[in-house]
Amino acid sequence: MPGLPSILPQPTSLSLRPETWRGGDTLTLSFDPGLERQASLLADYLKNENQVTTQAAAGGALHLSLALTPRPLPANQAAAGFMDEAYRLTVTPENILIEGASPAGVACGIQSLRQLLSGQRAPLTLPALVVEDRPAMAWRGLHLDVSRHFRTAEDVRRFIDLAALHKFNVFHWHLTDDQGWRLPVEGYPRLTETAAWRDGTLIGHQDQPPQERYDGVRHGGYYTHEEIRGVVDYAAARGIHVLPEVDLPGHVQALITAYPEFGNSGQAPGVRQRWGISPHTLNLEPATFAFLERLVDTVAGLFPFHYLHFGGDEALVGEWEASPRIQEHKRALGLPDDHAVQGYFTRRIHEMATRHGRAMIGWDEIIERNEPPHEVAVMSWRDSYKLATPPHLKALQGGHPLVLASCSMTYFDAYQAEGEAKTREPLAIGSFISWEKVYAWQPLADIPAAQQAGLLGAQAQLWAEYIPTCAHLDYMAYPRACALAQVLWTGTAREPLAAFRPRLEHHLARLGRLGVSYRPLSP
Ligand code: ACM
Repeated sequence: MPGLPSILPQPTSLSLRPETWRGGDTLTLSFDPGLERQASLLADYLKNENQVTTQAAAGGALHLSLALTPRPLPANQAAAGFMDEAYRLTVTPENILIEGASPAGVACGIQSLRQLLSGQRAPLTLPALVVEDRPAMAWRGLHLDVSRHFRTAEDVRRFIDLAALHKFNVFHWHLTDDQGWRLPVEGYPRLTETAAWRDGTLIGHQDQPPQERYDGVRHGGYYTHEEIRGVVDYAAARGIHVLPEVDLPGHVQALITAYPEFGNSGQAPGVRQRWGISPHTLNLEPATFAFLERLVDTVAGLFPFHYLHFGGDEALVGEWEASPRIQEHKRALGLPDDHAVQGYFTRRIHEMATRHGRAMIGWDEIIERNEPPHEVAVMSWRDSYKLATPPHLKALQGGHPLVLASCSMTYFDAYQAEGEAKTREPLAIGSFISWEKVYAWQPLADIPAAQQAGLLGAQAQLWAEYIPTCAHLDYMAYPRACALAQVLWTGTAREPLAAFRPRLEHHLARLGRLGVSYRPLSP
């Protein structure tokens, strides 16, 4: 018996039968039309992780099918392109069948089978069983900041594959920030020549006195459009939507360094080498909006997901207040104050996205002092900021589709220990979020029942200021992402922590076999 038939996140139901399925060195694989990519994904997992080859054959020992009737999803989930991810995995002595309500459901079933077969080599065996499963939340996301530390396209694919193992279905790719721009836009060559590179990086923590020291090491990179399309395709085969983010009108210091004419001082501030909030913001000149048009066209052309993220966080108004040109534009546009400049960017960018049949999503600052159109979705992060109305509730009250990105529960750049134990942790941005705290999170707890339909789901953030390597990224992501996967997949039907812990321990051994440098439960 190859270990417990344990799956993470915990399936809706799993019933064991007394018989056993045994496979040979080669397995026959068949699939319904429309499941070619899922079949090839399963064949790759079997080859790479179990050293078992597959042959396509009608009525094979492994069969993938779209046999389940999809449940209609709420309108906002369907509009965003989500599908019913229900699946059934049936193992009998004769064969293994994965039936899905959609290709995404079949992809989820494949991850459950992958988990059950983890660590096995031919001949494979499994206990006969039936898993019936479907997620509680539609949007189950993981974010990755590749601006503060660049990851290659290969690193990104690995990150996505691990996300898929946990049945996450949105990969939020934070592509631009003050410290580096990773997205080529035709006609703007200095984005990749200049904005993609910084000449050094702060050593140590930004809040540590006395003097700042920099390493003087050039850091950066960008993705070609071909690489980006490859990543989107790789994610799609795994049932994962890629949400691209270009952060503006703040967090644009790298962009303004390459194109000072988009900024408020005409000066190139240099691609930022330290962390924290940059004072630089975009101006309202026609050349800036010509660039933004080209940018939105580019993003919409590369990324098929309904939502396109255009930041909106931490855009300081200081430069706008001080700029005579901005004051002139404000008068001409009838903008009542400097905060309305941010609202103007949101409206214009959303309009551009709308021309591609898409919608903008942005961080919750976009609704703090402005009222964008209802279709603009909000990603609420400032739940610990003591705002008059918590931003997630404000978004729902305003009729905006909402994704929770809570900085107090799902910012995985926070420390994983506190007190004396924290001193043994690698440098992190601050705060304390353990996997147990993530597991105890009740995302719906303070959302009135009547408003819950507006919630698309939730996600974790991996801001990478203090995450220089992929091994360190693993350490920060896992096991917290395992806990979050269970929270989002099982919803209120979640098992108690005492039952989850052995499931997690069993699962961490799988992650170890995949070479993941997770943080041990008892370091
Ligand atoms: C954020 O953490 N600035 C969204």
